[in-house]
Amino acid sequence: MEIWNKSEAGVKVLVTQLIDSAGLDALQAAGLDVDLWAGPGPIPRDELLRRVAGCVGLIPMLTDLIDGPVMDAGPLQVVANHAVGVDNVDLQAAAERGIPVTNTPGVLTDATADLTMALMLGVARRVVEGHDLVRSGGFEGWRPTLLRGMDLHGATLGLVGKGRIGTAVGTRARAFGMAVVHHTRTGGISLDRLLQTADVVSLHCPLTTETHHLIDARALGRMKPEAILINTARGPVVDEAALARALQERTIAGAGLDVFEHEPRVHPDLLALPNVVLLPHLGSATRGTRRRMAELAVENLLAVLAHRPPLSPIPPESL
Ligand code: DGY
Repeated sequence: MEIWNKSEAGVKVLVTQLIDSAGLDALQAAGLDVDLWAGPGPIPRDELLRRVAGCVGLIPMLTDLIDGPVMDAGPLQVVANHAVGVDNVDLQAAAERGIPVTNTPGVLTDATADLTMALMLGVARRVVEGHDLVRSGGFEGWRPTLLRGMDLHGATLGLVGKGRIGTAVGTRARAFGMAVVHHTRTGGISLDRLLQTADVVSLHCPLTTETHHLIDARALGRMKPEAILINTARGPVVDEAALARALQERTIAGAGLDVFEHEPRVHPDLLALPNVVLLPHLGSATRGTRRRMAELAVENLLAVLAHRPPLSPIPPESL
């Protein structure tokens, strides 16, 4: 159904990466002109500023900084982030300009929780080291002492943050026989106690000024030497240099990282360590989830442009 007259001025929307075709089809079906940046990497800043100048709607990726200058570059009426995290959007600047910001919660919970378990199992059971051993021809036969890992059953999982994804990870971990504790801004046990008692620490908090480097050298120093750290939240929640040191000095046993402090760059020391599993921000990367993310981002954008309430607005209290 077309809800805009194509001859009307200012009905262009910018999508800053190739998203699932269901989302692009819905934009086109609504009669919008879609300006799609489909470069191999994130849209360069100058290109973003140039292209957004003619757009009423923007569907950015988590890799795009959407700040005041971007919002002022054109007649923007909505920023429909194609992610649940909105740390790439200056929410204060959007509020000052009266531009609604939306995200994609819920649809990626299970996929991200699954990937968290994959990392947890990967590190605890040394899956990548085993894979590399077989591939390199180094597997000489079964041995009782070969690549012994950590039991997840009976271990304690410490969730830092317990929103949708943290809760879903807790459900999965209990099915693996783990005990689950959590720390949030408003509840659970203290962060120090969690770090001191958990065998697996898994991060599920948003990136804010409060959580930037929440896991620093001091926090890592509180963890047990046999414990592992999993991060599928946002890279800058962890001080990556401090983590690399803790892993080198074996003050913690391992880490599984889907996100990085200076993404897509990875601290070089991490790349050299065997006790780390590294993934390229794949938390929500399933076909079904990426389709639902695209659809939800588009539904949000269309709702705001049609003066309807969006499905998942970022509430003002997030500021
Ligand atoms: C998000 O939506 O914030 C995720 O990091 C995407 O995988």
